[in-house]
Amino acid sequence: MAPVHVLVFPWPLQGHINSMLHFAAGLLGAGLHVSFVHTEHNLRRVDLVKAAASPRLRLMSLPDGLPDDHPRSVDDLKDLAKSLITTGTVPYRALLASVLAADTADAGFPPVSCVVADGLLPFAIDIAEELGVPALAFRTASACSVLAYLSVPKLMEVGEVPIPVGADLDELVRGVPGMEDFLRRRDLPGTCRLRAETNDVDPLLHILVNYSVHSSKARALIFNTTVSLEGSALAHIAPRMRDVFAIGPLHAISAAPALPTSLWREDDGCMAWLDGHIDRSVVYVSLGSLAVISLEQFTEFLSGLVGAGYAFLWVLRPDMVGESQRGVLQDAIDAAGNDKMRVVDWAPQRDVLRHRAVGCFLTHAGWNSTLEGVVEGVPLVCWPFFADQQINSRFVGAVWGNGLDMKDVCKRAVVEAMVREAMESGELRMSAQTLAQQVRRDIADGGSSTTEFERLLCFIKELTAKGAVPRRPADSL
Ligand code: UDX
Repeated sequence: MAPVHVLVFPWPLQGHINSMLHFAAGLLGAGLHVSFVHTEHNLRRVDLVKAAASPRLRLMSLPDGLPDDHPRSVDDLKDLAKSLITTGTVPYRALLASVLAADTADAGFPPVSCVVADGLLPFAIDIAEELGVPALAFRTASACSVLAYLSVPKLMEVGEVPIPVGADLDELVRGVPGMEDFLRRRDLPGTCRLRAETNDVDPLLHILVNYSVHSSKARALIFNTTVSLEGSALAHIAPRMRDVFAIGPLHAISAAPALPTSLWREDDGCMAWLDGHIDRSVVYVSLGSLAVISLEQFTEFLSGLVGAGYAFLWVLRPDMVGESQRGVLQDAIDAAGNDKMRVVDWAPQRDVLRHRAVGCFLTHAGWNSTLEGVVEGVPLVCWPFFADQQINSRFVGAVWGNGLDMKDVCKRAVVEAMVREAMESGELRMSAQTLAQQVRRDIADGGSSTTEFERLLCFIKELTAKGAVPRRPADSL
C-alpha cells in the first residue's frame, strides 16, 4: 500500500486547532503522513521544537489576510472569516497544488492524497475537490449543535426561529429531532434569537446553517464525539451526509503522539500549586480561548467563587478582562492568600483536569473543554458564552447529568451555590464518573470510536488508492 498523506486544515482558532491536531496525532499514530495548515500568524505562536518531534508531521502556513496587530478576538471573527475567504483561497489553491505535485514533495512525504478541512471552511473542501483531491469535513463542535444548525430551516418554516425579543426562553423547541423533550429556546445558539437592537436575525446564523449543510458535499463528515454521548444526534445527521464518523474524544486517544496545541504560553506553576492541595478541594475555572467577560460578570464570578469557600485556579487570558479587573484580583489574592486563589493567563488544561486536587470545573462548555471534563469524570458547572456552548451545557445539565447549567445567569449567589453543589454532591460526581467510564470504553480497543477511527482510516486509504483525479488543467491551478 502506498504511503498515505492527509492535509489537515482547521479554522485558525484555538478550539478548532486543538481537536484537529489531536486528529492529526491519531493519523500519525496510525502511520500516515500529515501536513497541518496553520495561518502564518498562528504558526509563529506554536512550539515548533515539539512539532519537529514527529517526522511524519509537516506544519505549513497560509496568510489570513489580517494585519499583524489585528486582535482576532471574538468580536472580530467576521473580519477573520471574510479575510480567509477573500485572501486565503488563492494561497490555499497554490499550497494544495504544490503538495499534489510529487516532484515538489518533501523528502519522504508522498503527494497529498486527501484533505480533511474544518466544516467552517467550505472553500477548502470545494477547491480540493476541484483539484481532484477527495475532501472530508471535520466539525470541532458537538453533533447536537450541528444538528440544531441543520434544523434551522425547518425551525424557521414552523415559526420556532427566529425567537422574538422578550419571548419566554423556557418554552420547549419541537423541531430539533430527538431533543423535543428537553431543548428550550434558551438552549439554541444565541443567533437564533432576534437581535434586540435591530429586531432582525444575525446574518451569522445563515452563514453557520449554510456551512453545516455544505458538509453534505464532502466525502464524509467527521465528529470529535462518541456514539454513547451523541448517538441520537449522529443518527439524525447521518442520512443528510455522504458518511459520518464519530471518533472522539480525540485528545484521549492514547496511542497518538502529543503535539503542541497551545497558542498561549502555559503557566509553569499550576501543577505544583495543585500538588499542594488535598484531593478534590480545588475549583478549576476556565472559559476557553474566546470568551470575554464584562466588569459586572467578572465581579459576580469573583464574589461567587470566594463565597463558595474553596480554593480556585482561574484562567483569565490577558485579552479577557481589563487592567482595572487585574488590580481587583490582586487585592482579592492578597486578602484570600496564595494557596486559596491562583490566577493564570493560560493553563495546561488537560493536565489540570487530570489532577487529583481538582473537584469541579467551571467552564463555558466549549466542546473541547466539555469532552476534557467528561473524560476525567469531573463535575461541570457551565456558563455558556456563545454558539454551540448553549446546547452543550443543556446536554450536561439535562441529558448526561455530569454537571449544572448556569445558562444566561451570572449572579454571585448562583455561582456560589452551583460551585458548592458540584464540589459536594456525591450524586453528581457519581454521574460524572459513570459517564467517564462509558466514554473511556468508547475509545478503548473494540470501542465505538476506536472502531470508527479504524473505519475512517480504511475509508481514507481507499480514497488514496483511487488516486487524485485532476478535474482542471494544471495550468489553471
Ligand atoms: C470554540 C467553541 O466553543 C467550541 O465548542 C468549538 O468546538 C471550537 O471553538 P473555545 O471557546 O476555545 O472553542 O473552547 P473549547 O472548545 O473548550 O477549546 C478550548 C481549548 O483550549 C481546550 O482544548 C482547552 O484544553 C484549551 N485550554 C483552555 C488550555 O489549554 N488552557 C487554558 O487555560 C484554557
